Amino acid sequence: MNRALVVYESVFGDAKQIALAVAEGLATRLPVDVASAREAPTQVPADVRMLVVGGPNHAFSMPRRSTREGAVRDHGAQIPDTGFGLHEWLDMVQLPRAISAAAFDTRMDRPTLITKLDHAARTEEKLLRRLGATLAAPAEHFFVTDTKGPLVDGEADRARRWGQALAELVAARPANAGG
Ligand SMILES: Cc1cc2nc3c(=O)[nH]c(=O)nc-3n(C[C@H](O)[C@H](O)[C@H](O)COP(=O)(O)O)c2cc1C
Repeated sequence: MNRALVVYESVFGDAKQIALAVAEGLATRLPVDVASAREAPTQVPADVRMLVVGGPNHAFSMPRRSTREGAVRDHGAQIPDTGFGLHEWLDMVQLPRAISAAAFDTRMDRPTLITKLDHAARTEEKLLRRLGATLAAPAEHFFVTDTKGPLVDGEADRARRWGQALAELVAARPANAGG
């Protein structure tokens, strides 16, 4: 049975909410597991055909130790291990062959020019490609109204629809096809 896996990093809960909504959309066609990067398997099982990863933008890229420490210091975030998150998981995970993948990030809804840059999702896509995954769809960006959220109205619904569209792409392909 083909499965999907959603792996996220989230400091204030917004990217987690998006991950859960994407999983709901995927679940319309596939069994789905959702895990934070800390809990996710370091060897993804062979029956996982779709991997979705996502997390917040931190200083124009993915979170890293220095930005997580900044979130703790400047915004009162509670992060048990500032040395490990989605980037570190993608640096060490092993993926099955012929796995499809997609990336998302959460970001501020302003200023307009900055919101249009690729930031974290572009790095996530680069790491996914390096692991041999085939990107099934362009990355999606979901907006928050402030550093600690909340999500802009309607973003969780949009994430659900995106997850469903990804599931339909995987379901339409034969089990041994890559991409
Ligand atoms: C240290 C730090 C750096 C950030 N840098 C950016 C940034 O470069 N661009 C941006 O759009 N948002 C930035 N933000 C806001 C995050 O996008 C926002 O906190 C995140 O999307 C919320 O998701 P979360 O609740 O899952 O952590 C930053 C937040 C923190 C804490």
